[in-house]
Amino acid sequence: MLTTTRIQNAEEKLSKASQEINNRYRLGYHIMAPANWINDPNGLIQFNGEYHVFYQHHPYDENWGPMHWGHVKSKDLVHWEHCRVALAPGDACDKDGCFSGSGVDHDGKLTLIYTGHHYIDKEKDLFYQNQNIAVSQDGVTFEKVGENPVIAEPPADSSHHFRDPKVWKHDDTWYMILGNSTKDDVGRVILYRSSDLRNWEYIGVLAQSDGTLGYMWECPDFFELDGKYVLLISPQGIEEKGDLYKNLFQTGYLVGEYDYNTNKFEHGSFTELDNGHDFYAVQTFLDDKGRRIAIGWMDMWESDMPTKADGWCGALTLPRVVTMGSNNKLLMNPVEELALLRETEHEVSTNQIISGSYLAEIKEELLEIKATFDLKNTSAQSVGIKIRGIEQEEAVLTYQLDHQKLTLDCSKLGKEKDGVRNTILEESDQLSVHVFIDRSSIEVFVNNGQATMTSRIYPREERLGIELFTENGDVKIEEFTYWKL
Ligand code: FRU
Repeated sequence: MLTTTRIQNAEEKLSKASQEINNRYRLGYHIMAPANWINDPNGLIQFNGEYHVFYQHHPYDENWGPMHWGHVKSKDLVHWEHCRVALAPGDACDKDGCFSGSGVDHDGKLTLIYTGHHYIDKEKDLFYQNQNIAVSQDGVTFEKVGENPVIAEPPADSSHHFRDPKVWKHDDTWYMILGNSTKDDVGRVILYRSSDLRNWEYIGVLAQSDGTLGYMWECPDFFELDGKYVLLISPQGIEEKGDLYKNLFQTGYLVGEYDYNTNKFEHGSFTELDNGHDFYAVQTFLDDKGRRIAIGWMDMWESDMPTKADGWCGALTLPRVVTMGSNNKLLMNPVEELALLRETEHEVSTNQIISGSYLAEIKEELLEIKATFDLKNTSAQSVGIKIRGIEQEEAVLTYQLDHQKLTLDCSKLGKEKDGVRNTILEESDQLSVHVFIDRSSIEVFVNNGQATMTSRIYPREERLGIELFTENGDVKIEEFTYWKL
């Protein structure tokens, strides 16, 4: 079947399926497909003044299946317009799936580089993967190029996991990194180089697990930030260790020095990028304001996904600006354009001392909240915020001052099995919390991006309000403002 017919079929299916969706958990201001399954963000790029985001998509079912690329675009990173499905699998180069990849501007044309997935024996999950290119003249319709696959097979010492190309240009040369593993299942990222985006030369290994970082690294990204180089990876198979690596798979980074002449990347240790339950396969791009913007998949493989019963599944996180903090720690903050979502502002209090609890009754489902606690002269052992339902439901964000531990507990909000995530903050006189709540998600940004926690939540009750609380003492609230979005 022709690609165009496959795309038309997918669009017809989506338009029917979108009319049958149960909206109870549909997000109000996050990227989702019109219906059915999505996972990783792909091909993030600002092109001709518009932001384009693609995503892994199965338009025919609420479960993962033969991967297509869905597509949205925006002028402001806030209001997204749905475009037709960009890539449908089924050609010789991508028989069983168009897997993750990236987008570049090549000679003024929006160009996608992606992985073709091919089953050898589907039952046994035996497959091979290759790398392909599709080009658009109009930014919406994509044509796969005749040279595909542009990389037919991995290097000799590689396993069959060979996917998720991230491509960028440095000086006049194109570079591509791929998620990969060795023949004996050690996760790594490998590097290629090209002068024309069609013919690729294998350079070598950019970074590899020391044995503690899993059997496969998915969805790599590599960029310069503040004079340092950052490698983002989504490793599979890292063992849980205390409060670390609690999700099935992780997304995190290595920071170091890189030399294009020698391909040597000297880096520090692996750090998780977000400490919530649902953050994976993050990708970034540079925009014309010089911002490095990250978007992740706001779910986790094999977790409970109650929206499947509603005819859709999967969403992307809010766009976040990534900056370099002290000690090579990455900071993430929501893009400032999100202020466009604000409808009514409620300044609940400034410089008020609270002891015990303070409840602001708020019925709204879509909210942005900012609260700053003065930790200098407090007698409290812990402080925090609860997003409460009218009965038992609540998501609780707690900061324990003596351990500097921040906890997000969603076990009473749809995550009964494994509801708690913790992270340790650097010492500070203040705890400033910036929270975005959508119908089935919470994204927490703390102390100017020092920690972020992203989780899906599945409320069943009507909302009662937002409660600020202290335990064993009082605390001054410097700011408490919320916006209905
Ligand atoms: C990451 C991932 C990628 C792959 C895609 C398939 O979540 O497994 O490695 O390209 O999803 O949908």
